Amino acid sequence: MMIAALFLALHVVAASVWVGGMFLLLVCLRPNLPALEPPQRLTLMRGTLAKFFPWVWAAVITLLVTGYGLLFGAHGGFAGAAIYIHVMNLLGLVMMALYAHLFFAPWKRMRRAVDGQDWPEAGKNLDQIRLFVTVNLTLGLITLAIAGAGRYLV
Ligand code: HEM
Repeated sequence: MMIAALFLALHVVAASVWVGGMFLLLVCLRPNLPALEPPQRLTLMRGTLAKFFPWVWAAVITLLVTGYGLLFGAHGGFAGAAIYIHVMNLLGLVMMALYAHLFFAPWKRMRRAVDGQDWPEAGKNLDQIRLFVTVNLTLGLITLAIAGAGRYLV
């Protein structure tokens, strides 16, 4: 029981760090970026994302380990789990796949472009990152709502 409590606590904290971080980026930081010139804006975003993404990897690993730990340890595996757990699992895996793509494709290109001061290329890749983060924030908020309220719907 103590392990399940610890796993659930870590699971919820990891989800909050990931989804809350995306909310801050998109809803609060992004509307203020046009105030800066492209070199400043893209350098700021390169630094901010370089600090955020290791935390997202930590959140992804924590969500997987604790999510499947709870699923198999406390919910009787896939067969025994309620529908909202299946939905959470599915949406969570989609979010992780999108994040992995964002990290290894546009983020890698954006880092290289900012370091080489190729601002148009960096801006193009930041736009792609923004699209992925928009989709993932939407999925993350839906997942949180379903995960939190699901027990009353079964
Ligand atoms: C990727 C695979 C995932 C698996 C296998 C998984 C599995 C689980 C399991 C088994 C529970 C325990 C439910 C309970 O005891 O009632 C749980 C709880 C929770 N999960 Fe996930 N999860 C995953 C991803 C996510 C993601 C991506 C988020 C949010 C963005 C999330 C948010 C939550 C929340 C908020 C709870 C607490 C629900 C509550 O008890 O109030 N999970 N998850």
